[in-house]
Amino acid sequence: MTQTAPHVNYLKDYQPSAFSIESVYLEFELSPLATRVTNSMQMQRQAKGDLRLDGENLKLISVLLDGEEVIEQCQIDEAGLTLAVAKEKFTLRIVTEIEPQNNTALEGLYRTSDNYCTQCEAEGFRKITYYLDRPDVLSVFTTKVIADKSENRFLLANGNLVDSGDLDNGKHFAVWQDPHKKPCYLFALVAGNLEKVEDTFTTADGREVKLEIFVEPRNIEKCEHAMESLKKSMKWDEERFGLLYDLDIFMIVAVDDFNMGAMENKGLNVFNSKFVLAKPETATDIDYEGIEAVIGHEYFHNWTGNRVTCRDWFQLTLKEGLTVFRDQEFTADMLSSAVKRIEDVRRLRSNQFPEDAGPMSHPIQPQSYIEMNNFYTMTVYEKGAEVVRLYHTLLGETGFQKGMQLYFERHDGQAVTVQDFRNAMADANGVNLEQMHNWYVQSGTPNLEVTRNYDAVTQKLTISCQQSLPNSDDFQPMLMPIGFGLLDKEGEPVTLEPTFESAANVELRSDTHAVLKLTQAQQSFVFEDVPADAVPSLLRGFSAPVKLHFDYSNQELALLAAKDEDSFVRWEAMQTLLLRTVQAKVAALQSCIDYQLPSEVIEVARSLLAAKEIDPALVAMTLSLPELGYIGEQYEVVDVDTIYQAHSWLEAELANHMQGQWLDVYHRCVNDAPYQYDKAQIAERMLKNLALSYLGVLSEHQSLVLKQYQAQHNMTDVLAALKTMLKHQHPRSVEALQSFYERWQDDNLVIDKWFTLQAQTQNDHALQTTQALLQHKDFSLTNPNRVRSLLGVFSRLNLVGFHRADGAGYQMCAEQIMQLDALNPQIAARLLGPFTHWKRYDEKRQQMMRNALQQILDRKGVSKDVYEIASKSLA
Ligand code: PHE
Ligand code: ZN
Repeated sequence: MTQTAPHVNYLKDYQPSAFSIESVYLEFELSPLATRVTNSMQMQRQAKGDLRLDGENLKLISVLLDGEEVIEQCQIDEAGLTLAVAKEKFTLRIVTEIEPQNNTALEGLYRTSDNYCTQCEAEGFRKITYYLDRPDVLSVFTTKVIADKSENRFLLANGNLVDSGDLDNGKHFAVWQDPHKKPCYLFALVAGNLEKVEDTFTTADGREVKLEIFVEPRNIEKCEHAMESLKKSMKWDEERFGLLYDLDIFMIVAVDDFNMGAMENKGLNVFNSKFVLAKPETATDIDYEGIEAVIGHEYFHNWTGNRVTCRDWFQLTLKEGLTVFRDQEFTADMLSSAVKRIEDVRRLRSNQFPEDAGPMSHPIQPQSYIEMNNFYTMTVYEKGAEVVRLYHTLLGETGFQKGMQLYFERHDGQAVTVQDFRNAMADANGVNLEQMHNWYVQSGTPNLEVTRNYDAVTQKLTISCQQSLPNSDDFQPMLMPIGFGLLDKEGEPVTLEPTFESAANVELRSDTHAVLKLTQAQQSFVFEDVPADAVPSLLRGFSAPVKLHFDYSNQELALLAAKDEDSFVRWEAMQTLLLRTVQAKVAALQSCIDYQLPSEVIEVARSLLAAKEIDPALVAMTLSLPELGYIGEQYEVVDVDTIYQAHSWLEAELANHMQGQWLDVYHRCVNDAPYQYDKAQIAERMLKNLALSYLGVLSEHQSLVLKQYQAQHNMTDVLAALKTMLKHQHPRSVEALQSFYERWQDDNLVIDKWFTLQAQTQNDHALQTTQALLQHKDFSLTNPNRVRSLLGVFSRLNLVGFHRADGAGYQMCAEQIMQLDALNPQIAARLLGPFTHWKRYDEKRQQMMRNALQQILDRKGVSKDVYEIASKSLA
C-alpha cells in the first residue's frame, strides 16, 4: 500500500545479483494464523555490496549468519532487509512468521477452502520469507512441510518426495527435494484434505512418470478430461518439440481461489479449478478446450519457462509468448488449426488491439513497470505469441525447431533474454533476424496499408505496402511476412509469378501461395501474367499482428469469402462484409435515414451456410457477427447504444432472411449421441447453437429454444439456450434461470456461469440486475472467479449497462473496485481495464469515467497495482 508516488523499475537498470544462493532449505510449520517459516540459504558473494533481501509483510523472528544471531545488525524496511556481510560464503538462516488465513491478496502463502496454497509469480515469494526474489537467482530447493495430520492429509511441494512420517501432537511431515535449479517464483507448497486421481505416463526414453491431480473430494468425478489433456500434452511435446519430462512425478492441484488461470511451479502446477474440472453436464466445449489448452500451457512451461527461465521480468514474453505459441499449436494439432487460428485472431483483436491503442499500451518487452502483476497482459502473452509465430512463419517448422534445439543447447539451466532467443533462431538457421528487435520494443498495433496497381497492357500487378505505427515519431520498420495469393474473377487461384526484382522478397510456398517479406516502411511487389480483375488475398493465416487496410469492393469480399484457399481470409472477408454492414447501419441510424441490407451479404451468407464441404465450425465462425467490442474499436468515438442497435438489427435481418435455412441447419446438427469432446461434435454444436441464436430472435421459434434448454443434454447446449432466452426476454427465462440455479447451487463453476449469464444480458435493467446480484448470498469479493463473472463481465461485455448515460454503471463498478482493492489489489487493477478506454466515449461519459478513476486513485491506501493503472490512464 502506498501514498507517495511508488518506485518505478526500469529494464535499463538491470544489474546481476551481488549474491547467489547455492541451495536453500525451507521448513514450514503450517498454522492458519501463525505459520513459521525457517529459511536456510547457502549463499555466495558474486560482486561487491551489502546483502539486500526482498521481504514484505513478514514478522521477523531471527537471523543467523553462520549460526550467529545478527538480527540487530539488519536494517528492515517495508520492502526488505539489508545486512552488511563481510564473508564470501556463508549460511543465512532466517525465521519469519506469516498469517495465511488473512491473506486475501492470494499472493504468497494463503488459504483456499481450508487448504494451504502458494502463489509466488511474479513477486510473491517475498511474502513467505526474505529472499533474493528475482528470476535470475536460481537455486536447489528442499522443502519440509509440517502440519496437523487430520486437517492436512496431503503435504506437497516441488520435486520428489524424499521423506515423510508422523510427529507428536497429531502432526505429520513431508520432505520434498527438487533437483532442478529454479528461481523462487516457481516454488510451490500445498497442504490440505484433498483427494487425488492417479495415472502414469511413459516417456519416449522409457521412464514411468507418476501423474497426480489433487482436488477437493466433491470434485473427484470431474478430473478425467484434465488427466487426458495432461497425457496428450506430454506426448505432443515429445513428438512435435522432442521435449521429455524430467522428474518422476507431475502433480496438478485445483483450487477455487486463484488470481490467474494456472501456474507452472516445478512439478507441482497449481490451477484455478476452472481449468481442471469438467463433466459434460457442467462444462461447455469452450471450457473443455480451455482445460486442454491451459494444462498444455503449464506443462509446456516445464521447458519454456522452467528449464530456461527469464533473466528479469521485462523478459516475461520470452516464456509467455513462446509458451502461448506452443499451446496454440497444441490445440491446433488436437482439434482444427483453421478454427484455432480464427479464435486466436478474434481474441487478439477484441482484447489486445484495444489495450495497444489505450493508455496502458506497452511493447511486448516493457521498458518499465511499477507493479509487475500489471504486465501479465494480452500484449505480453498474445501479441508475444504472434511475434514467436513470425519466426515460425519466416523459418518454417523445420527451421523453427532447429532454433528451439539450439536455444535449449545453449541455455538449459539459465535465465536469459528475448535477445538470446532471437540469436538461437538466427544462428541455427544462418540468417540475420536483428530487425525482429523492432517488434519487441515498439508498442501499438502496426497499420499495414496496401494498394494495387494493374497495368492491363503488360499484365503486371504491383502490390504496394506501407507500414506505420500510430502515434510514433521515431518508427522503425518491422520484418513482416505477408501471406499472399491472387484469385481470378471467377475465384480460381492464379499462379504467382513475381518479377525478377521482386523474387528476392517473395517466397513461394506453392504455385498459388507466397509469403511477401516486407522489411521497409514502403515496399512494392510486382507480379507478371496477372489476369484482369484479379483479387489479392492478403495476410493469409493472419501472418502478422497488424491492421490491414485495403480497398476491397463488397463483391471482392464476397468472392474471397466464398473461394479463397485460406480459411482465415475467407472468414475475414465475411467478417469485413458484416462489419461494413453494421457500420453503414450505425451511420444511417445516426442521421435518421433508411438503410437496407445489401443483397450480396445475404447471398454469400446463404451460400456459405449451404456449403456442406466446409467444416461446420468454420461456417459458424464466419456467420457469427463481429463482437461489439471489435465494432467499437473502429470508431474514434464509440456510440454504444447505436452500435448495439445496429448489431441487433443485423442479427434480426440474418435471422429473418435465412429463417428456413437456419431451421434446416439446426435440425441437421441436432445429435442425441452422448456428449463427446471431439472435433466433429464440437463443430456440430457450434453451428447448431449459432442457428439457435438467430432463430431465438424470432418469436415463432421460442418453443425450439425452450426445448433445447429443457433437454438438459449438456452444458454447451443448455447455456446456449439460456443465453438466447435471456437476450430475447423469453417468457420462460426467469423460470429457467431459477431452475438452473437450484440444480447447480453447490457447483461453484456453474454458479459462476449463472452470474455471467445475467451480468452480460444487455437491457434497460442490466444495472439493477447486477446490483441485486452483488447482494446475492453466493457473491463474494474474495473469490476472483466470482468477481470476474459478475463485475468483470458487466464492465467488459455489458456495454449498454456499464456505459449508461447517467453514469450509474461507472459508479457501481468504482465502488466495488475500491472495496476490492483493500482485499486483492491484483484483481482490482484488472477490473480497471474498461475505465482506461475513456477517451473513446463522448464528453459527458469521458468526464464521468475520469471522475471514477480519480476517485479510485484518491482512496486512502490505494495499492500500487491500482495506482499504476489509474494514474497512467488519467495522465
Ligand atoms: N505464469 C502463469 C502462466 O502463464 C500465469 C500466472 C502469473 C499465474 C502470475 C499466477 C501469477 O501460466
Ligand atoms: Zn504461461
